[in-house]
Amino acid sequence: MTKIFVTRDIPDEGLKMLRARTDIELKVYGEDKKIPDGILKRSVKGADIILSLLTEKIDSSVMDAAGKQLKMIANYAVGFDNIDLAAAKERGIVVTNTPGPELSEAVAEHAVALIFTLTHRIVETDTFTRAKKYKGWGPKMFLGTDVHGKTLGIIGGGAIGTALARKMHNGFGVKIVYNDIKRNEALEKEVDATYLEKNDLLKKADFVSIHVPLLPSTKHLIGEAELKIMKNTAYLINTSRGPIVDEKALVVALTRGDIAGAGLDVYECEPLIDCDPTDTYELRKCANAVLTPHTASATIEARQAMSRVAAENILAFLDGKTPPNAVKVS
Ligand code: GLV
Ligand code: GLV
Repeated sequence: MTKIFVTRDIPDEGLKMLRARTDIELKVYGEDKKIPDGILKRSVKGADIILSLLTEKIDSSVMDAAGKQLKMIANYAVGFDNIDLAAAKERGIVVTNTPGPELSEAVAEHAVALIFTLTHRIVETDTFTRAKKYKGWGPKMFLGTDVHGKTLGIIGGGAIGTALARKMHNGFGVKIVYNDIKRNEALEKEVDATYLEKNDLLKKADFVSIHVPLLPSTKHLIGEAELKIMKNTAYLINTSRGPIVDEKALVVALTRGDIAGAGLDVYECEPLIDCDPTDTYELRKCANAVLTPHTASATIEARQAMSRVAAENILAFLDGKTPPNAVKVS
């Protein structure tokens, strides 16, 4: 019998696939909130597999609390920065994530939504209209900017970056430039994208959208120097992981007008904003920022797909195959 502990209830399709197997004993933490660390450590004891969420930090202490039989951590997320990969490797534990077309489409759609919310000033104008301030049409009232014909700089030309490039290029006539650790020729061909060095991309782009995983090498990839290179008419979009952007530097850039605005779905010290336990929320005061609570993949289609992908990884592993989404540890 394989014991699987799921750290929070998730959309059900993958759980049904696991429950259909008679050789699996599935336990799910029942509260709809992040599992407290103490309960996590007690609950994983004896588990062969942990199906974890991105809110759970799975470090060596959790792995050791589970015990030597722990063989796999199946993360319910495309990101895997919540898992100590080196500790997992040392212990021979396989780690998997949940990429896939549904997740890529959902996150790319969210990036599109943030771009248009900023350029068409949707949040500001909605607030204005609800506050009964709309007294009559004006030719210069709430002027935004067109998206059509602009240049989108994609940092991270993988599946999500490619999905966004496709939508923006094919749908809105946007020019695509991108940067990554390696070139993506399929992306270049499909949407006529140009590979640029990071600083050249920052100089050129009207929108900069980040689609890289959080790794030691990508922490603060966008900081004070990068924000200064960006045009003061440009917008920064982050739907990847908060620490990739130096949030303090971003608040300064937004306040000074070094860039035109930011659309953020993730935060450096999430769920805190501005890493500020006193809750003063400098970012929240920036009218040129649009803030969503890490909901870029929160569509029913994407979250069910992630559930199925997590289960497929587990079932492949149990059947002695390499899971389709094993995270490579360098
Ligand atoms: C969401 O942030 C994910 O990594 O899937
Ligand atoms: C605006 O409403 C217009 O008619 O141009």
